Amino acid sequence: MTLRLGVNIDHVATLRQARGGTQPDPVRAAQVAEDAGANGITLHLREDRRHVQEHDLREIVRVASVPVNLELAVDQRVIDIAVDVRPRNCCLVPERRQELTTEGGLDIHGSEERVGAAVEMLRAAGIQVQVFVDPEPAQIDAAWRIGVHGIELHTGAYANATDPLSAQAELDRLCYAADRVCSLGMHLHAGHGLDYQNVGPVARIDGMEELNIGHAIIARALFSGLHEAVSQMKRLLAGSSAGDE
Ligand code: PXP
Repeated sequence: MTLRLGVNIDHVATLRQARGGTQPDPVRAAQVAEDAGANGITLHLREDRRHVQEHDLREIVRVASVPVNLELAVDQRVIDIAVDVRPRNCCLVPERRQELTTEGGLDIHGSEERVGAAVEMLRAAGIQVQVFVDPEPAQIDAAWRIGVHGIELHTGAYANATDPLSAQAELDRLCYAADRVCSLGMHLHAGHGLDYQNVGPVARIDGMEELNIGHAIIARALFSGLHEAVSQMKRLLAGSSAGDE
C-alpha cells in the first residue's frame, strides 16, 4: 500500500493573515504541493478564522485534483459549510480558542452523541469522515461505534518526546492503537508534529495509509521552496530511509 502524504497549508494562510492581504496565497500553495506529489491537501477552518478563510476552502476544493481534507471542530456553523462545500474528507478535531495548534485528540468517549450527530451529517453529504484522537483504545472503540470511516492518530506525544525511551513508548502506543483501528476495519491516518527526522517509524506502522504534515514542510519551504520541501517528504515516505536524514 502506498502511504499518502496530505500537506497541511494552514501556515501559508497564517503568513497571509499577518498582513491581511492576499500573499502568500494558500490556493497557489495547494497547487505547488500537488505538483510536487502531495496526495491530498489538508486545511483547518477554525472558528476564529485565524488562518484559513472560507473562500480558501471553496477555491481549493474547486481547483484541487487531489482529495481535500477539511479539519473542523464539532460546531454546527462549520459543519454547515462542510456539507455545502463537500470536500472529499473531513476530520473532526477539538478546538480551543487559546491554543497555538490542535493540542490533544477529540474526546469521543465522553461525547459520543454530540460527535456522532456531526459524523452523521457529514456522512449524509457523502463526505468521508475521520476523527483526530489520541492513541487510546477507548477513544478508538467509541469512534468505531459512531460510524467514522477512519481515525487520524495524534502523533504529538511521540513527536514531542524528549528522549529515545519515551519516544519508543509513544511509538508503541501508536502501534497498538493502529492495530486496533485496522482490526475494527477503519482507515488509518496519523499526524501532528511529524517532521523529516521523526516521520520514519510512524510511516512504517502496519496499515498506515496517510500522514498529514504541515509545520515541518512549510518551515522547510522557507529555505528550499515548497516544491522541494514536499518532494523531500515524499521521498522519505516512499523509501525505507525515513528518519535517516
Ligand atoms: N493533523 C491534524 C488533525 C492537525 O490538527 C494538524 C495541525 O493542524 C496536523 C495534522 C499537522 O500538524 P503539523 O502542522 O504539526 O504537521
